[in-house]
Amino acid sequence: MKTSISLSELPDQLLSWYDQHARDLPWRVGPAARRAGQRPEPYRVWLAEIMLQQTTVPHAARYYQAFTARWPAVSDLAAARDEDVMAAWAGLGYYARARNLLKCARQVAALGGWPDTEDGLRALPGIGPYTAGAVAALAFGRRAAAVDGNVERVFARLLATQGPWADEKQRIRRRVEALVPEGHSAEFAEALMDLGATICTPRRPACAACPVSAFCVARTEGDPARYPIKPRKAPKPHRQGHVYILLGPDGTVLTEQRPDRGLLGGMLGLPGSDWVEGPRPPHAPPVSADWQALGEVRHVFTHFSLDLQVWCAQSDQTGMTTPLAAARAALPSVFRKALALALAP
Ligand code: ADE
Repeated sequence: MKTSISLSELPDQLLSWYDQHARDLPWRVGPAARRAGQRPEPYRVWLAEIMLQQTTVPHAARYYQAFTARWPAVSDLAAARDEDVMAAWAGLGYYARARNLLKCARQVAALGGWPDTEDGLRALPGIGPYTAGAVAALAFGRRAAAVDGNVERVFARLLATQGPWADEKQRIRRRVEALVPEGHSAEFAEALMDLGATICTPRRPACAACPVSAFCVARTEGDPARYPIKPRKAPKPHRQGHVYILLGPDGTVLTEQRPDRGLLGGMLGLPGSDWVEGPRPPHAPPVSADWQALGEVRHVFTHFSLDLQVWCAQSDQTGMTTPLAAARAALPSVFRKALALALAP
């Protein structure tokens, strides 16, 4: 049985490293500016954190720039039309998150401002423990921890955790919370994010450059990448279906609004069959036309993978529901792939 490893010196080491190596990110107030008293706006911190939950920093940065240019304040986002926000979110995935984003913005606008405590933030739509901790620390300087999968990986290695992963994650959270330095919770949270993203990476951690390697049990064991030890994931089920692209002579395409509930809820879509496990459902186009089979596109969702047979036909009717450029911009990735196949030269 391992006794508790002391990490009491870790925050100081990490903060001096962060001072030198902080990533310059569009939503961030860097360590020097923070010392000079600057703080990022909660709206910007929150928006970035919601986007970063599902994608990489470079991908999120493009969306972050577009959102903040179009909706510079939470009151602007709160006043936006649902379909504009859903279309602007297209390509980021997890569309329930975009609906919660709007709900949250509207609630904050109705409240007249952001709650400035972790508990207050936690009560808003779409804000879980991670985001509440991040916004409380980064925007309000509260003594709060932001523990996501990256921070869990860093601490699984530091502590060489061996127990069931669900239990270890809880222990890690408590351990990180206890380490948050008073007055520097923001830098501490950002330093851990940077450490996880640039040094303590999932596959080949750069231990020689790590400011806290002296504390790391996994490193002394010799194979830090074997942590965290997680239960094996069940393979994802595979589904199949058809998707139909009906092109008008005037550069438009037949689209449909997906129902608010369920997968890709509230997003623009292309007509198609249900997506089912087992044999592909029968071919049942939305209108009769000279449908040509173009091949398949594959898309991997969180809980299943999908192959869609793409069918394309030309219609002589003008004014199909959506101009192609608008469809390309507003469709979720799986449909964008199908449209790209139909429009490939
Ligand atoms: N990952 C999650 N939140 C982040 C942030 N604010 N900056 C960089 N990477 C992150």
